[in-house]
Amino acid sequence: MRAKIIGSGSVTPPKVVTNDDLAKTIATSDEWIRTRTGIAERRVSDEATATSDLAIIAAQKALISANIKAEDLDLIIVGTTSPDTLFPSVACTVQDKIGAAKAAAFDASAACAGFNYALTTACQYIESGMYKNILVIGADTLTKYVDWNDRSVCILFGDGAGAVVLTASNDGSGILAHWLKAEGRLGHYLVMPGGGSRDPAEKNGRFIHMDGKEVFKFAVRVLEESIYAVTKLADLTVADIDLLIPHQANSRIIDHVTKKLGLPKEKVYVNLQKYGNTSAASIPLALDEALQDKRLKSGDIVVLSGFGAGLTCGANLMRW
Ligand code: COA
Repeated sequence: MRAKIIGSGSVTPPKVVTNDDLAKTIATSDEWIRTRTGIAERRVSDEATATSDLAIIAAQKALISANIKAEDLDLIIVGTTSPDTLFPSVACTVQDKIGAAKAAAFDASAACAGFNYALTTACQYIESGMYKNILVIGADTLTKYVDWNDRSVCILFGDGAGAVVLTASNDGSGILAHWLKAEGRLGHYLVMPGGGSRDPAEKNGRFIHMDGKEVFKFAVRVLEESIYAVTKLADLTVADIDLLIPHQANSRIIDHVTKKLGLPKEKVYVNLQKYGNTSAASIPLALDEALQDKRLKSGDIVVLSGFGAGLTCGANLMRW
């Protein structure tokens, strides 16, 4: 028995912030941001919008696209590191608001790798036979945690949510291999210090701190490693990949790795120019757009790979 994606949905907030908008308040330029990151604009949620508000919309779209009812869900997992509250989890809020009365629900915290961690976890419940229908969401509103005066961080992030519905299937398609990794020793390179039990009063602030160069080095190393590892686990090679959907953090990271792997541009999905780094939402948002763009056909081999704070990395390979 394998987990198969039977529906997807995504959403981003309506407010667009362009590079030129940022250049009005900080010492940066559209040219600098585009050449260093590939990002042209990002979506920023308003004060009234919390992560669950986006997650619920993405979930409802995914349920419609999968043609299943919320009551038929056995489990909801949300990859997020910007929950509405420390508890209840975003997953429990989604469970209530969409009416998934019998579903268990929890959040998976692996930052930008959160969707792949959540997806791999969901697959274990299906492969073991415990559950049949699972909703997996990646949702984050990290723009609420950037210092808009810190030009090395605020240019990178955007908000969004993406969701998929998984069901048990034995027709040969579905998610064939999973690979997860954590390098906690490098965790200090990407930190949100305030608000946790180490600093509940947020004396250290509630902003993202990042060593961009070190995170960049980690990202190129593990993105490559994850793609090799997950294809090997599926008894395939990189040449068998029809579409790679990498975490949408920086086009230089993606270009560097895909060039090294010999993957042509048309086999790599990139939409970060429109959204920036939407953290756990980036991969399901890109997958949903790739499906709308008709980039996938039956039988295609698709690899999803994400990396982020922790530091973490996770990849899943599926036959569409
Ligand atoms: N606009 C203009 N100049 C900027 C700038 C900005 N937005 N941000 C930084 N700079 C400046 C720096 O101050 C530095 O100036 P200096 O040489 O006078 O000190 C110069 O540009 C080079 O900075 P540097 O940090 O070396 O740039 P970089 O090429 O490493 O690019 C990142 C910075 C953040 C774009 C890059 O390191 C990166 O993308 N890292 C990965 C981050 C990531 O993906 N994080 C999320 C992972 S999930």
